[in-house]
Amino acid sequence: MSHESWSRRDFLRAAGAAPAVAFTWNTENLERVRAASQAVAGRAPQEVAQDEFYWREVQLAFKLDRTLINLNNGFTCPAPRVVLEAAFRYTEQINLLPVHYQHMVAAGIPTIRRRMANEFGCDPDELALTRGASEALQIAQNGIDLEPGDEVVTTEQDYPRMLTTWDQRMRREGIKVTRLQFPVPATQEQLYTLFERAVTPKTKVFHFCHTTNLTAQLFPVQRIARLARSKGIVTIVDGAHALGQFPFKLRDLECDAYGVSLHKWLLAPIGNGCLYVRREMIPRFWPLQAAPEQQDYDIEKFEAIGTHPWGIRAALGEALAFHQAIGAERKAARLRYLTLRWANALKANPRVRILTNLDEPAVAWGVSAVNIEGIDVRDLARFLMAKYRIVVVPLVGGVPPNQVFDYQALRISPNVYTTLEEIDTFVEAMQDALENGVPTQGGAEDGNASAEDLEFML
Ligand SMILES: Cc1ncc(COP(=O)(O)O)c(C=O)c1O
Repeated sequence: MSHESWSRRDFLRAAGAAPAVAFTWNTENLERVRAASQAVAGRAPQEVAQDEFYWREVQLAFKLDRTLINLNNGFTCPAPRVVLEAAFRYTEQINLLPVHYQHMVAAGIPTIRRRMANEFGCDPDELALTRGASEALQIAQNGIDLEPGDEVVTTEQDYPRMLTTWDQRMRREGIKVTRLQFPVPATQEQLYTLFERAVTPKTKVFHFCHTTNLTAQLFPVQRIARLARSKGIVTIVDGAHALGQFPFKLRDLECDAYGVSLHKWLLAPIGNGCLYVRREMIPRFWPLQAAPEQQDYDIEKFEAIGTHPWGIRAALGEALAFHQAIGAERKAARLRYLTLRWANALKANPRVRILTNLDEPAVAWGVSAVNIEGIDVRDLARFLMAKYRIVVVPLVGGVPPNQVFDYQALRISPNVYTTLEEIDTFVEAMQDALENGVPTQGGAEDGNASAEDLEFML
């Protein structure tokens, strides 16, 4: 065989179809969660949310530092053991002989895309896998053609990196960016009206969060997307926190593009995200890295980013399996139960202010925000860490292009592995702060936490 005709297919044939080394990992925890879910299958999710025997199986599926209480899962969530081990094993397998095993691992990606699409309610050819929500959203934000003077309407409480992306287009291309402010919590009607009133003949894009990274304010995505469509406006939705936290179907949102962090609530290994693009809209978005014209209508044009860690992406399959083993409804009910447990214990105190709507019907699950009148949230966060080893993020507004808001709060985000004892320790710590105060140090010299500090923790 000449060198020229030695194709990858020949190589794979010569090397044999199956890996030379057997790669398996321990799936016992996953099986145990599946079995536990089977045993509670006939009961309502709200009831199972309070069943500590059930959640113990889920807790055991994680390897964590339990000397710390992690109530900052809004940042990046730890992946369950089975997911992390899968990522290690795929990576190790690829490393044996990258040209051979990388393609073998990559061959499984279309199956993962299909399973993700089935779970989250879209067609597989509308879903691109990315390295996170920043990449997914920037594909949409930078990929849509805009003329100087065209207007993008977003909010002051959208994610800093996404606001910076629009700011850069403003500086580079002369587009106009309108940033709307809203109170927290806001009603769905207030948010809809805000966008409705902001439309001008120059408005070309709406960009907003499904649920914000600050107070978890939920937006009426479908209503705003319908309004936008009726006026020829493109809707880009930041779903970094939504997918995997509470159940919904992507196609029901009716937006044009939707970006997600899968290393948040889907519990995928760090470096996973996805971008949903409504089929008809795929040709309207340019990919971040150039693709040939034949791919104009192909969702995979957004995935062509050269060599990248396929092992991380392949382990998304195990993350999805773990999510399905618990079940989206049970997971959301448990997250809400944990949130309500601390909120109900503290809310009667007149100095406690909860900035997230926790009423029924549910519009918040695993993320919410709280402050104590008279205590700087940065001091409170330091106190919780120093005395109780509780990890939370203090929210303090910044200046454009960062988020701008006039409240202070701690963002509290437990996870499926959080124990009741951990939640109760948080309640005890907050009561301690209320009764005895906390050491004061305040924020940075300008009165704000630096933008870099905040983005690192958000
Ligand atoms: C609302 C929101 N959008 C976008 C992002 C960026 O996500 P990633 O870190 O996956 O790029 C985050 C991350 O915290 C976020 O909270």
